Amino acid sequence: MSLTRIVLLTGAGVSAESGLGTFRDVGGLWDRYDLADVATPEGFARDPALVLDFYNARRANMRAASPNAAHQALARLQRAWPDRVTLVTQNIDDLHERAGSPAVVHMHGELGQARCAACGHLWPAPEAMSPADPCPACTAPATRPDVVWFGEIPYHMERIGAALAEADLFVAIGTSGAVYPAAGFVAEAAARGARTLEINLAPSDVADAFDDRLLGPATKTVPAWVASLID
Ligand code: OAD
Repeated sequence: MSLTRIVLLTGAGVSAESGLGTFRDVGGLWDRYDLADVATPEGFARDPALVLDFYNARRANMRAASPNAAHQALARLQRAWPDRVTLVTQNIDDLHERAGSPAVVHMHGELGQARCAACGHLWPAPEAMSPADPCPACTAPATRPDVVWFGEIPYHMERIGAALAEADLFVAIGTSGAVYPAAGFVAEAAARGARTLEINLAPSDVADAFDDRLLGPATKTVPAWVASLID
């Protein structure tokens, strides 16, 4: 099969073997924290310190972690086939970039960026944020991480929709298929004629929507799949 356009969608499973916890696996983040408290605008309005501490801890974990063989293999694929591979991630960590990915579409934002909830100004996130931190542009004490919370609109949807419309292969890697709109990308790509592949430890919630499946840990399955394409 000749592939001209590939869209990759990654989730927490791709960073799991780097030591970053997933959300919905047993013992995952949503077992230990209430999503409504730490990942919604209402939770932030109720208790900004709790929310900032949650993301401060995620940021510290991210900075202590290293990219794994799955991140590296995806970067190798992007570099081997420039302009043919769109990498979309739901992850807010920077492990794709640190593995050498030339371009990453962060649909749920990035832990490494701070945003002013008052004026929208963006700046590189400090190690830790606190509710009293002033915005460097407007001075309002309204610092938040530049991440997308439940009830907010994911970033780059137009660009992702255009890539899905042109794709002849869509691959979801390490994502549970529990959160929309990302969970709907497989159906969108298939409706436009793309072949679809799920790479995961176990079948996701939307596994039946895929044509093909590779099961196993991402550090094994992803390098093997990339090698089968480009070596
Ligand atoms: P989840 O925690 O929902 O799902 C992680 C997926 O990774 C599961 O399907 C696991 O089977 C799989 N997995 C775990 N370890 C793996 C490994 N070593 N190799 C391959 N797969 C593995 O994480 P996401 O699907 O990314 O959003 O979650 C989607 C969104 O829900 C997140 O972006 C976040 C969360 O709430 C927001 O906070 C807005």
